[in-house]
Amino acid sequence: MGRAGQIHAGIFRDKVPEATLACVVDEAEKVAKDAGTRLGVNWTTDTSEAVQDDGVDAVVVAVPTYLHARVASAALDAGKHVFIEKPLAHTPKDAEQLARRALSSGRVFQVGYMRRYDRAYREVKDSIANGSLGLLLIYRAIAHDPAPPPGWAADPKLSGGIFYDMLSHDFDMGRNLMASEVSSVYATGSSKVCEDIAKKGDLDTVAVLMKFKSGAFGYVEGFRKSSYGYDLRTEVVGSGGSAVVGAMNDPSLTFADRKGLRQSGVKWFADRFDAAFEAEDNSFAKAIITRSNPEISASDGIRAVEIAEACRLSVARKKPVSLGELH
Ligand SMILES: NC(=O)c1ccc[n+]([C@@H]2O[C@H](COP(=O)([O-])OP(=O)(O)OC[C@H]3O[C@@H](n4cnc5c(N)ncnc54)[C@H](O)[C@@H]3O)[C@@H](O)[C@H]2O)c1
Repeated sequence: MGRAGQIHAGIFRDKVPEATLACVVDEAEKVAKDAGTRLGVNWTTDTSEAVQDDGVDAVVVAVPTYLHARVASAALDAGKHVFIEKPLAHTPKDAEQLARRALSSGRVFQVGYMRRYDRAYREVKDSIANGSLGLLLIYRAIAHDPAPPPGWAADPKLSGGIFYDMLSHDFDMGRNLMASEVSSVYATGSSKVCEDIAKKGDLDTVAVLMKFKSGAFGYVEGFRKSSYGYDLRTEVVGSGGSAVVGAMNDPSLTFADRKGLRQSGVKWFADRFDAAFEAEDNSFAKAIITRSNPEISASDGIRAVEIAEACRLSVARKKPVSLGELH
């Protein structure tokens, strides 16, 4: 019932017609109780009790990333379908073990890269599919968060670090739009802005050059503390043209006065992607009901983790890293 858990709980209660929100869980009693009271559902601090409840068909895992494997495995062992927030895990080993378990479970197991359900990204994907961008050449992504993550997520030993925690979204989107796996990465970064992150050994500003197996290449840039808001821009360049998603400003609010025209940035991911989260949760329910494969599988989760790990290694070695090395 942290940031992500609250978003999904609200959606499953109100906006997924096929689902009933059975219970909310948080190990912090006050958090669980407040959320349960607000949402009008049962609450508990005991994850194992909740995942073993016979009345529950599916579990949304939105605990801190270092606990993903533990909680998701318990849910799979109890025979539940699992929606798991990104990234799959904070290490390749945990991610690999969890993915293997998920793939052999026969349950729906969906990873939470909600940008794939965003209208603009969907339209880019469609225009690529109908060939209007021609041969895909370049993938470019700029991801600037308004504030560094608090608590556990500032610690790379618990979150996996910026490449896992933040940029795995952009790696997943790169694979999805370019319809190709990444073959190698060259990453660099610094930590000059967020003191807490630097102390814990993570980076706050990074750049990644990627090569795709298709021959295309990509550039992904991440920054943890953008003073003007959430700035997310993505571009795909092809031989037939270019498609751009995102802008720095929030077009729904403009101030006009003697200083001129001013727009704010979009505040945070929850504002930018509210409709995408809703579509994502509905797609999970639909996959369960129709017994179909989720759009974003455990294998997709693994691929994003591998790219993140290759970036981490590349920064440490100051050299490009081939993804083949991780298999
Ligand atoms: N899709 C997205 O854009 C997006 C956005 C935010 C977070 N996330 C992901 O969601 C996950 C959670 O991140 P967050 O920002 O919501 O974290 P958070 O710190 O806001 O919330 C985590 C919650 O889990 C609780 N918790 C910790 N250990 C627990 C346990 N053993 N059992 C039950 N509850 C426990 C904590 O008390 C806390 O309330 C992470 O994997 C993160 O990467 C995804």
